[in-house]
Amino acid sequence: MSKKLYIETVGCQMNELDSELVVATLRKQGYELTDAPGNADLVLFNTCSVRQHAEDKIYSALGRLKHAKRENPRKIIGVLGCMAQKDQGLIFQRAPYVDLVVGPGQLHQIPKLIDDIAVGGGQKMEVSLERKDGSREEIARSHESFDPLRDPSMRPSPYQAYVRIQIGCDKFCTYCIVPSVRGPEQARHPNVILAEARQLAGEGCKEITLLGQTVNSYRHHDGERTTRMPDLLALLHEVAGIERLKFVTNYPKDMTDDLLQTVRDLPKVSPYLHVPAQSGSNEVLKRMKRGYTVEDYREMMGRIRETVPEAAVTSDFIVGFCGETEADFEQTVELVRESRFKNSFIFKYSPRPGTKGFELFADDVPEDVKKRRNNELLAVQNAISEEDNQPFIGRTVEILVEGPSKNAVKHGHDDGPILQLTGRTHCDRIVVYEGNRRQIGELLPVTIYDANAFTLFGSVVTRETGPELYTLELAK
Ligand code: 5AD
Ligand code: SF4
Repeated sequence: MSKKLYIETVGCQMNELDSELVVATLRKQGYELTDAPGNADLVLFNTCSVRQHAEDKIYSALGRLKHAKRENPRKIIGVLGCMAQKDQGLIFQRAPYVDLVVGPGQLHQIPKLIDDIAVGGGQKMEVSLERKDGSREEIARSHESFDPLRDPSMRPSPYQAYVRIQIGCDKFCTYCIVPSVRGPEQARHPNVILAEARQLAGEGCKEITLLGQTVNSYRHHDGERTTRMPDLLALLHEVAGIERLKFVTNYPKDMTDDLLQTVRDLPKVSPYLHVPAQSGSNEVLKRMKRGYTVEDYREMMGRIRETVPEAAVTSDFIVGFCGETEADFEQTVELVRESRFKNSFIFKYSPRPGTKGFELFADDVPEDVKKRRNNELLAVQNAISEEDNQPFIGRTVEILVEGPSKNAVKHGHDDGPILQLTGRTHCDRIVVYEGNRRQIGELLPVTIYDANAFTLFGSVVTRETGPELYTLELAK
């Protein structure tokens, strides 16, 4: 009888990819997924440490399993990912019934560790070296990129996939825990990335999103050959079957002209750039140690608008960072007003033990002020998103159909042949339309008839009746 695996994932796309790969690996060991933690033989949490809130949620979820573990001591409970690396043995102290703690650089060890636990080996922990615990090379070696063979059935959609091109981060922004828990920046070999892209394309994947903490800083040296992000995009552009290439997350300082020209010139590369600004105030940026000024960021936005005018740019902001005054915040609002991001992710500063910011600065912006600034900035951004989505009304866009819309799933209307479907444009805008299940995974023209801040609403242009395609066909 197969064993049952329940896995819960929080955090970034890197974690989603890690979970996909862990599940694929465990499936090969005879595990089957279940969505009920209660009757699972193995319960895994793939965790995030970027904000306190994400950690609190995991500790409460672990708390809820205490009873189940007492009922069934053979149930194996594991904590993976960034919080495992950050808290290590503290997890066993806070939740003594946890069996397994595995950092993001040690995921390849999971099958063996689980086998050891199952035969009575006791609690197991595998984490990577900490930044202070050795030479850069030693630490880098202890953070291994976990990229086993892909399994299309393990992805939410077989038509889309993440591909890791870089692990770790060396920027050390003072608020950020990522460089400690994910280790030094390391680039995967371009040939390995290319082979993975080819395999994915062979399995029917049409869209690849390249992942890295500072993805546009990608640089791989191999003897005399240096491969940078534009070179890598050019290599991947040649993979037959791949129709779209996206990459996240970008670091503003490394948004070079040749990368922007590559985005402009290679049709498969999506005109979509996620480039977090974090703040619009130079004082705050300096304390964050972001390595650029707001003038640098504006200059970069100018180059993006000039080289790739149709590009959708998105950003991240932290409000209420240590010492952020009302005047600092106003400068952030101003930057959001003028930049016209497609959308922004806005976070309240969460002090992280183990970061320079935690050591150096007091978390002195009160929670209610953080909340107000968060809401205010979000309102400014949402008004812009809504305004900038209006010109799409009446236009026909090409979308990659992903699957049933959230609404269809929520209301249980996702099992018939005709249903509300969702997809994304090349510039990453979400489109909802009424369509046929068979269209999932296809690139389809859709005419937009309505739009709000987050979603475009459209109807599919059929070959028989669609105005655009009809004229195209007549013109041939
Ligand atoms: N507090 C709040 N937000 C943070 N981020 C990173 N660290 C913190 C923190 N300590 C945000 C940044 C980053 C995004 C992924 O999370 O905006 O770009
Ligand atoms: Fe964190 Fe800064 Fe690295 Fe992004 S660039 S992962 S914010 S340290």
